[in-house]
Amino acid sequence: MKIAIVKETRANETRVAGSPEVVKKLIGLGFQVVVQQDAGRDASFTDAAFRDAGATIAKDARAALKGAGMVFKIQAPQAGEIPAIKKGTILVASLGALSNPKEMQALARAGLTSFAMELMPRISRAQSMDILSSQSNLAGYKAVLDAASEFGRAFPMMMTAAGTVPPAKVFIMGVGVAGLQAIATAKRLGAIVTATDVRPATKEQVESLGGKFLEVDPEMEKDAQTEGGYAKEMPPAYFAKQKKVVAEHITKQDIVITTALIPGRPAPVLVTEQVVATMKPGAVIVDLAVEAGGNCPLSKLDQVVKTKNGVTIIGHGNVAGRLAEDASALFAKNLLNFITPLVDPETKNLAIDWEDEIVKGTLVTRDGKVVHPMLTNKKPGKKPGKKPAGKAKKPASKPKPKGK
Ligand code: NAI
Repeated sequence: MKIAIVKETRANETRVAGSPEVVKKLIGLGFQVVVQQDAGRDASFTDAAFRDAGATIAKDARAALKGAGMVFKIQAPQAGEIPAIKKGTILVASLGALSNPKEMQALARAGLTSFAMELMPRISRAQSMDILSSQSNLAGYKAVLDAASEFGRAFPMMMTAAGTVPPAKVFIMGVGVAGLQAIATAKRLGAIVTATDVRPATKEQVESLGGKFLEVDPEMEKDAQTEGGYAKEMPPAYFAKQKKVVAEHITKQDIVITTALIPGRPAPVLVTEQVVATMKPGAVIVDLAVEAGGNCPLSKLDQVVKTKNGVTIIGHGNVAGRLAEDASALFAKNLLNFITPLVDPETKNLAIDWEDEIVKGTLVTRDGKVVHPMLTNKKPGKKPGKKPAGKAKKPASKPKPKGK
C-alpha cells in the first residue's frame, strides 16, 4: 500500500506528518511512501532526505495522493483538499474531531476511513501513539523559552562584581504534560518554580522536579480527576478560593505559564484582568491554553500583547510547531507506532482489528458514516484523550478560539 505525506495547508502550520526516519521504517513495514515536494521544508526535512530514506517525491498534493491507500497529515484536510483523496483511503491525522463535526461529516461523505489521533485512549499501550503528549511536552519547553526571551531579566541568580541578580520566580498553572516540562525547563534555567493543579496527584510530581506546590483546597481536589487522568470542571466555590490563593501568589511572580485545559470544555479562566493589574511591570504571562479560549482573558491568539501596567502576555498558537523539526519527528513516530500493529508482519498487508480499543477510540469515519460514539450521541465506551493541540495542540474538543 502507498502512504502519501502531503504538505500542510493551514496557516501557521509548520509541521509535517512524516520524517525521513519514519519513512525508512514504513518502507520496512512493506509500504511505499510518497512525499509531496517541500512538505518538510518548514521542519528542516529536505526532499533529498526523504528521497534518501526511500520515498518518492511528488510535485504536488494531487500527484502524491494518486493511488495512495493511506494519508498521513498533521491537521484535517480542508474542503478544497478532500476531492483529491480517493474513496476508501485511510486518513491518519489530528482531526480536531469533536470540535469540527461538520468537517468530520465531509470526510465521511468522501468515503474516507479517518482516525483522529487526538482521541487516542490514554492507556499504557497507546503512550507511544499519543500526539497530545508528544506535542504538549515540546510546547511546555518552548513556553519557558518564549517567556525568557520577552523577560527583561535573567532566570538564574548571578553573583557578579557589579551586584547580585536575583533568580526569576516562575509559576506554572496546570501540571499536565506541558506543565511538567515547563517546570523542568524553568528549573534547568535556574528559576524558583511554583506550580498548581486541581489534580492532587500532581503535588508529588511538582516536588519531584524541584518545584513547590501551591495548594488551593485539598478537600475539593480529592474529586478533581477523571478515571482517564484528566481534570474535571471544578465547582464555583473552588474557583473563588483558587482566585484568592492565586491572586496573592501571582503578584510576587515574574513569569506565569498557564496550561490548564478540560477536555471538551473551554479552558478555565485562571488569571483574571484584575489579577494581571496587580502584577509587576516586566512580568510575563504565557497562555498555552489560548486556542481553547485561554486561561487569561487578556491573551490574544498568535499575538504578544503588553498591558498598561507593563505585563507582557504571550498567546502563540501552535507552540509545538515553533519547534517544527522535533514536533514533526515525534508526531510522525506517533503515527508509525499507531500503524505498526495494524499491519500483518507476514503478509505485510493491513489487518485492522476493528474491535481493538485503540482503533475504536480513534476511528471517526468509515463506510460513508461518522462512527465515533462521541459524535453520534451513542453512549461512549472508554473515555478518549482530550483536547487541543492542533493548536500545536489542537484540543480534541476545541472551543472556538478567541481569534481576537
Ligand atoms: P491537559 O492538557 O488536559 O490539562 C493540563 C493540566 O491542567 C492538567 O494537569 C489539568 O489537571 C490542569 N487543570 C485543569 N483545570 C485546572 C484548573 N482549574 N486549575 C489548575 N489546573 C487545572 O492535561 P494533559 O497534559 O493531557 O495530562 C492529563 C493527564 O493525563 C496527566 O495525568 C498525564 O500524566 C496523563 N497522561 C496519560 C497518558 C497515557 O497514559 N497514555 C499520556 C499522556 C498523559
